Amino acid sequence: MTNEIGTYSSKPHGIVTGQCIAMDQQAEILSLRPKRLSEYIGQAETVETFEIAIEAAKKRGEPLDHVLFHGPPGLGKTTLAHIIANEMGGTLTVSSGPALEKGGDLIGILTHIQKNDVFFIDEIHRTPKVVEEFLYPAMEDFAVDFIFDKGAHARSHRFRLQQFTLVGATTRAGLLSAPLRDRFGIFRSLDFYNVDELVTIGKRSASILKIKMDDEGACALAERSRGTPRIINRLLKRVRDYAQVRGDGNIRKNTVEAALSLEGVDSKGLTHLDRRYLETIIKFYSGGPVGIDAISATLQEETDTLVDVVEPYLLKIGMITRTSSGRKAAQSSYEHLGFAVQKTLF
Ligand SMILES: Nc1ncnc2c1ncn2[C@@H]1O[C@H](COP(=O)(O)OP(=O)(O)OP(=O)(O)O)[C@@H](O)[C@H]1O
Ligand SMILES: [Mg+2]
Repeated sequence: MTNEIGTYSSKPHGIVTGQCIAMDQQAEILSLRPKRLSEYIGQAETVETFEIAIEAAKKRGEPLDHVLFHGPPGLGKTTLAHIIANEMGGTLTVSSGPALEKGGDLIGILTHIQKNDVFFIDEIHRTPKVVEEFLYPAMEDFAVDFIFDKGAHARSHRFRLQQFTLVGATTRAGLLSAPLRDRFGIFRSLDFYNVDELVTIGKRSASILKIKMDDEGACALAERSRGTPRIINRLLKRVRDYAQVRGDGNIRKNTVEAALSLEGVDSKGLTHLDRRYLETIIKFYSGGPVGIDAISATLQEETDTLVDVVEPYLLKIGMITRTSSGRKAAQSSYEHLGFAVQKTLF
């Protein structure tokens, strides 16, 4: 989830400025990111919230309220953090919860931040508790408290910070502590994109990458992208390879179908892992309900991967349900995987 952060590591403190666009564009995946709110496709309510909040903040000459994004991987949390920095005319500094090991790491970054800058913390739910405590006064009062010496000689000194905006991203809002969550003024959950929005995103990416794709091809690709912009961009590149080697370079519906079946992506966009997950519930646990730990032990996959990556989309398209006693496969899972539906279960 933080794989793209590494792209900035050659810059001190992982700072991304408006001036280093040329460097960003060396990495193709970055150049596919929309850079302004007006270019952002989908998430209409979120975009409107920011159009209003950013214009109001600018009129008042104040920084934007702190923002928390929640949602499954690849839906645009990091992209929106870049856009907020661009729209506010500030610099973006990127870090992540697990990378901030000590309070000192955070203070080092915060004391370099200028007015209207955006500090982005990915996977903010994994920020260590000691670091989180430095964030509270930084967010609320734009200040950090240094503690000198220890025990009876301990003294504290308050250091004023510039007024900045903290943007946090998390795949698990439930794991954030209440005091941290309460300090964000704007909280937005990003939902999966519909097929029309994905068609627009796919066509935009194809035109940036100079790939020829017809409408049916774009639609077939969008239907297999699990509602996720990152996935449509990744699959687009696989289909491009296939079209260049086995076809005439143009992407059509049949190219998409042939290329993606090679990748193990089926007509609903489910991957090997999605199907193994569903098969486990149906075959080993008679359709459920079954606890996530039992599924993860049978599959030998991390529970976090299943909860963050696999389940959200299967829940969204109604292939599983979550009950208090565990996960259950829905009728559509049996049908999709070609199992006989056990009528008594439903
Ligand atoms: N609205 C959009 N329009 C066009 N492309 C988009 C949009 N949202 C995201 N993308 C594309 O999807 C890719 C993934 O988005 P992003 O990195 O912002 O996801 P994320 O939510 O931060 O994921 P993670 O939780 O894994 O960090 C981006 O590289 C970008 O090209
Ligand atoms: Mg991200």
